[in-house]
Formats: sequence, structure tokens, C-alpha cells
Amino acid sequence: MILVTGGAGFIGGNFVLDWLDVQDEPVVNLDLLTYAGNLETLNRVADHPHYQFVQGDIGDSALVSRLLAEHQPRAIINFAAESHVDRSITGPEDFIQTNIVGTFRLLEATRAYWSRLSDHDRAAFRFLHVSTDEVYGSLDKTAPAFTETHRYEPNSPYSASKAASDHLVRAYHHTYGLPVLTTNCSNNYGPYHFPEKLIPLCIHNALTGQPLPIYGDGQQIRDWLYVKDHCSAIRRVLEAGSLGEVYNVGGWNEKANLEVVKTLCAILDEEQPRADGLSYATQISFVKDRPGHDRRYAIDASKLERELGWKPAETFESGIRKTVRWYLANPDWVAHITSGAYRDWTNKQYGL
Ligand code: NAD
Ligand code: DAU
Repeated sequence: MILVTGGAGFIGGNFVLDWLDVQDEPVVNLDLLTYAGNLETLNRVADHPHYQFVQGDIGDSALVSRLLAEHQPRAIINFAAESHVDRSITGPEDFIQTNIVGTFRLLEATRAYWSRLSDHDRAAFRFLHVSTDEVYGSLDKTAPAFTETHRYEPNSPYSASKAASDHLVRAYHHTYGLPVLTTNCSNNYGPYHFPEKLIPLCIHNALTGQPLPIYGDGQQIRDWLYVKDHCSAIRRVLEAGSLGEVYNVGGWNEKANLEVVKTLCAILDEEQPRADGLSYATQISFVKDRPGHDRRYAIDASKLERELGWKPAETFESGIRKTVRWYLANPDWVAHITSGAYRDWTNKQYGL
């Protein structure tokens, strides 16, 4: 079996759902259920014979050691993290605790478990760490996309904490021989994306008649990947990645934020026109920029394609339409995200 951490979040949740659809192998999901964890995402598999959920912290060494001894996983996939850049700017502490200290404790518990395995199981074991393109910092408009050898220049507390976790993972391979793999992926979008991030926030705000907040001039560039393509890349790296290697994952879809939001509005205008006949684009509203806002990210995913034969299945156009349709078909999923923590955050960030 495999152990997934953070499997009640956006990408981990999609990963668990897809895993149970395509693999005949049990998965245990360890998730703390912070404000970003949502078990509703996993309703479809709650009673699946190959699925088990455990609520807990990756930084709880006793719990993790117990789970490893009990389930004897052949792999751990570490999605668990604090993931929202804006939250890391207003309150970095949780990012340091989970992304750095939590990853360290998870690595320590894993090392102890792995070192006691039989020679055969020790050789087959994998620790796959899910990371981000943000560790590489910001690119000029014409600079080539990030390769795996691009130097680390994280600019936000979030990206600095992820960079630190990447370095720990690398060090555990170099020093102890722990069989690790690291993936650094660009911006994901798709079903079950928490409505604090740009795309789900704008879909939700559009449909509820609220402003669509664009930071600064809206010309910051992100490189978008449909979440299920990220999941297939992780499965492929787990299956065939070379030990200790890093693989960049991306969709070759660089877009400015304003263009993304205008695209969302155009699709919504077609799929569910406003009652007054106006475009959702009239709700676009320019707001104060994010401090230290990275101007451009772009991923060069050619190593993953060349060495492991992975390619994304979706273009931005096909993926973004699927995403809008998913939100239109699943209004309850968003509506049920009504925790006090989420309301407080929205009030603080946008002064509502
Ligand atoms: P998310 O915020 O939606 O989900 C994170 C999950 O981790 C939540 O379910 C949360 O409850 C859980 N969690 C948080 N702290 C925990 C802890 N201490 N112990 C156990 N569980 C804990 O995040 P996401 O967008 O799904 O991102 C998943 C991973 O992918 C993160 O490591 C992130 O850095 C990385 N990543 C995200 C993107 C993106 O575009 N969202 C892109 C590249 C990489
Ligand atoms: O690049 C990968 C990263 O992508 C992941 O590591 C992070 O976990 C994930 O959250 C995401 O980070 P971003 O900061 O790029 O995503 P976010 O959706 O918060 O913002 C996308 C862009 O849109 C960014 O340039 C900021 C801008 N933005 C965001 C929000 C929430 C706005 O203009 N308005 C907004 O209200």
C-alpha cells in the first residue's frame, strides 16, 4: 500500500480519487484537516475497501511511526503543506511548522521505518515529495523557463518553507541514502480547488455577484496545469523516476492573471449567462498588489517528457472549461466550505 499525506486537500484529494480509479493498491490518507482539508472531496471513496483516512499531523512522530509500522507502505507521497502564499505573508508560523518541521519529522520517522525493512523492501521503497515551481523565484518576461538546475531563489515565506523542505529531502538522500523523488510543479487548477486561490475564487465570486479581485496590474504570469495531469505525472515519477532526482512538472500554459480571469468570464457568459445580460467581466476589480508578488513562473517540463514519457493530457482551453463546468455542477461543495476560519480570512484579506 501507499501512504499519502495531505490527501484531503486540493491536489492530494484529486490524487487519492484518481489512484483508486486506476490502481489496484490500497491507500492510507493522513491529513490534519486544517481549514484547507475537506473530506467531502473524498465522499465518493469513503467506503472504498482500499481506502482509509487517518486524521493527524505529519509532525506527530509517534503517530506517523505507528502508522508506518502498522501499514508497512511501499511508498509515501507527501502533499501535506500550508499552500496559500497570501496566508504565508500575513502569518508565516504555520508554514514553518508544517512545511519545514513537519517534513523533517516525517523524514525522520520514514528513515527509522525504512532502515528496518528487509533488503528487498528497502530497495523498493520510495518517498515522493510534492513541491512547487515557486522555490525557483521569479522570472523576467523573456527568460527561459525553470529547469531542474535553476538556482533556488524563494521570495515568500511559503516558497522559502517549501525550498527548505526540498533541501531536507535532498539531504536525506545524500546523507542517509533514503530513496527520495521530488517533483516541482507549476500552478494547478481543476475540481475541488479551495476558493481562496485565483481561479476557484473568481468562479465563486462571479456566480455570487461579488468583485473579481485582480492584484496590481494583473500582468503577473503563471503556468497552469490541470490537476489530473499533475496526478498522472506523480504516478509516473513514482513508478519510474530515478532515485534522488528532481522532476519539473508543468503544462506549457503561461497566462497573465487578467487573461485567465477574462477567459473564466467568457466561459461563464456562455455556460450560465448573468440574468441582466452583462458579462461577468464587469465584476473585475483591481485591488492592492500582493507584497513581493512574483512576476512570472514558467516550467520547463522536458526532462519528465524525455526521460519518463509524460505529457499533459489537457490544454488550458479544455481544462479550464472542464473546471468551470465542474464548479457549475457542484455548487454544494463550495457552499459547504463555511468554516469560521475561511470567513475570517476573506474578511481580513479583502476588507469585507
Ligand atoms: P491544499 O492547501 O489544498 O491542501 C493541503 C492539505 O494538507 C490539506 O488537506 C491540509 O489539511 C493538509 N495539511 C496541512 N498541514 C498538515 C499537517 N501538518 N499534517 C497533515 N496534513 C496537513 O494544498 P494543495 O494545493 O493541494 O497542495 C498540495 C501540495 O502540492 C503542497 O505541498 C503544495 O506546496 C504543492 N503544490 C501545489 C500547487 C498548486 O497549484 N496548488 C502547485 C505545485 C505544488
Ligand atoms: O506555482 C505553484 C503555486 O501556485 C503553488 O505552490 C501554491 O501552493 C499555489 O497556491 C499557487 O500559488 P499562487 O500564488 O500562484 O496562486 P494564487 O491562486 O494564490 O494566485 C495566482 C495568481 O493570481 C498570483 O499571481 C496572485 C493572483 N491573485 C490571487 C488571488 C487569490 C489575484 O490577482 N487575486 C486574488 O484574489
